[in-house]
Amino acid sequence: MVGCGGRGTGAAMQALLSKQNVTLVAMADAFRDRLDDCYKALMSDDISDWSGATGNLKDKIHVPEENKFVGFDGYKKQSH
Ligand SMILES: NC(=O)c1ccc[n+]([C@@H]2O[C@H](COP(=O)([O-])OP(=O)(O)OC[C@H]3O[C@@H](n4cnc5c(N)ncnc54)[C@H](O)[C@@H]3O)[C@@H](O)[C@H]2O)c1
Repeated sequence: MVGCGGRGTGAAMQALLSKQNVTLVAMADAFRDRLDDCYKALMSDDISDWSGATGNLKDKIHVPEENKFVGFDGYKKQSH
Protein backbone atom coordinates (compact mmCIF):
# COMPACT_ATOMS: atom_id res chain seq x y z
CA MET A 1 0.00 0.00 0.00
CA VAL A 2 1.46 3.35 -1.03
CA GLY A 3 -0.09 6.47 0.46
CA CYS A 4 -1.77 5.90 3.83
CA GLY A 5 -4.10 8.91 3.87
CA GLY A 6 -7.87 9.00 3.74
CA ARG A 7 -8.38 7.39 0.37
CA GLY A 8 -5.59 4.87 0.78
CA THR A 9 -6.91 3.71 4.14
CA GLY A 10 -10.44 3.45 2.77
CA ALA A 11 -9.28 1.54 -0.30
CA ALA A 12 -7.27 -0.86 1.84
CA MET A 13 -10.31 -1.52 4.04
CA GLN A 14 -12.47 -2.16 0.99
CA ALA A 15 -9.95 -4.55 -0.53
CA LEU A 16 -9.37 -6.43 2.72
CA LEU A 17 -13.10 -6.63 3.54
CA SER A 18 -13.80 -8.19 0.14
CA LYS A 19 -14.12 -11.93 -0.18
CA GLN A 20 -10.96 -12.08 -2.28
CA ASN A 21 -7.79 -13.64 -0.97
CA VAL A 22 -6.01 -10.38 -0.15
CA THR A 23 -3.18 -9.78 2.32
CA LEU A 24 -1.55 -6.46 3.17
CA VAL A 25 2.21 -7.04 3.39
CA ALA A 26 3.84 -3.61 3.09
CA MET A 27 2.94 0.04 3.64
CA ALA A 28 4.55 3.30 2.54
CA ASP A 29 3.81 6.93 3.30
CA ALA A 30 5.78 10.14 3.21
CA PHE A 31 5.12 10.62 6.93
CA ARG A 32 5.45 8.20 9.85
CA ASP A 33 2.35 9.46 11.68
CA ARG A 34 0.17 8.89 8.61
CA LEU A 35 1.44 5.35 8.28
CA ASP A 36 0.97 4.62 11.99
CA ASP A 37 -2.57 6.06 12.09
CA CYS A 38 -3.53 3.99 9.06
CA TYR A 39 -2.04 0.82 10.53
CA LYS A 40 -3.93 1.41 13.78
CA ALA A 41 -7.18 1.97 11.92
CA LEU A 42 -6.77 -1.21 9.87
CA MET A 43 -5.92 -3.23 13.00
CA SER A 44 -9.01 -2.02 14.91
CA ASP A 45 -11.30 -4.65 16.37
CA ASP A 46 -14.33 -3.77 14.26
CA ILE A 47 -13.92 -2.26 10.83
CA SER A 48 -16.77 -1.04 8.67
CA ASP A 49 -16.63 0.65 5.29
CA TRP A 50 -19.06 2.95 3.53
CA SER A 51 -20.89 0.03 1.90
CA GLY A 52 -21.79 -1.46 5.27
CA ALA A 53 -19.25 -4.29 5.05
CA THR A 54 -17.80 -5.08 8.46
CA GLY A 55 -15.12 -7.32 9.82
CA ASN A 56 -11.89 -7.76 11.65
CA LEU A 57 -8.91 -7.52 9.33
CA LYS A 58 -6.12 -8.58 11.68
CA ASP A 59 -5.68 -11.97 10.01
CA LYS A 60 -5.17 -10.29 6.63
CA ILE A 61 -2.54 -7.78 7.75
CA HIS A 62 1.06 -8.96 7.97
CA VAL A 63 3.18 -5.80 7.94
CA PRO A 64 6.32 -6.24 10.04
CA GLU A 65 8.26 -3.12 11.00
CA GLU A 66 10.80 -3.71 8.21
CA ASN A 67 7.96 -3.52 5.67
CA LYS A 68 6.87 -0.03 6.79
CA PHE A 69 8.56 2.52 4.53
CA VAL A 70 8.62 6.23 5.36
CA GLY A 71 9.65 8.97 2.95
CA PHE A 72 8.85 10.09 -0.58
CA ASP A 73 10.79 7.19 -2.09
CA GLY A 74 9.12 4.47 -0.03
CA TYR A 75 7.37 3.04 -3.08
CA LYS A 76 10.80 2.04 -4.44
CA LYS A 77 11.71 -0.06 -1.41
CA GLN A 78 11.41 -3.82 -1.40
CA SER A 79 9.33 -5.67 1.18
CA HIS A 80 10.96 -8.51 3.14
N1 LIG B 1 -10.81 8.45 -7.45
C1 LIG B 1 -11.46 8.67 -6.31
O1 LIG B 1 -12.55 8.18 -6.10
C2 LIG B 1 -10.79 9.49 -5.24
C3 LIG B 1 -11.44 9.70 -4.05
C4 LIG B 1 -10.79 10.40 -3.04
C5 LIG B 1 -9.52 10.89 -3.28
N2 LIG B 1 -8.94 10.71 -4.49
C6 LIG B 1 -7.57 11.19 -4.73
O2 LIG B 1 -6.70 10.37 -3.98
C7 LIG B 1 -5.57 11.15 -3.56
C8 LIG B 1 -5.39 11.05 -2.06
O3 LIG B 1 -6.49 11.67 -1.39
P1 LIG B 1 -6.64 11.59 0.17
O4 LIG B 1 -7.91 12.24 0.53
O5 LIG B 1 -6.41 10.19 0.62
O6 LIG B 1 -5.42 12.51 0.66
P2 LIG B 1 -4.59 12.39 1.99
O7 LIG B 1 -3.81 13.65 2.11
O8 LIG B 1 -5.46 11.96 3.13
O9 LIG B 1 -3.59 11.17 1.71
C9 LIG B 1 -2.49 11.23 0.85
C10 LIG B 1 -1.34 10.50 1.53
O10 LIG B 1 -0.30 10.29 0.61
C11 LIG B 1 0.93 10.49 1.28
N3 LIG B 1 1.97 10.72 0.29
C12 LIG B 1 2.22 11.80 -0.46
N4 LIG B 1 3.29 11.61 -1.27
C13 LIG B 1 3.72 10.33 -1.04
C14 LIG B 1 4.78 9.53 -1.57
N5 LIG B 1 5.64 9.98 -2.52
N6 LIG B 1 4.95 8.28 -1.10
C15 LIG B 1 4.10 7.79 -0.15
N7 LIG B 1 3.06 8.52 0.38
C16 LIG B 1 2.88 9.77 -0.06
C17 LIG B 1 0.65 11.63 2.22
O11 LIG B 1 1.58 11.71 3.28
C18 LIG B 1 -0.76 11.27 2.71
O12 LIG B 1 -0.75 10.44 3.86
C19 LIG B 1 -5.81 12.57 -4.05
O13 LIG B 1 -5.14 12.75 -5.26
C20 LIG B 1 -7.31 12.60 -4.25
O14 LIG B 1 -7.70 13.57 -5.23
C21 LIG B 1 -9.55 9.99 -5.46
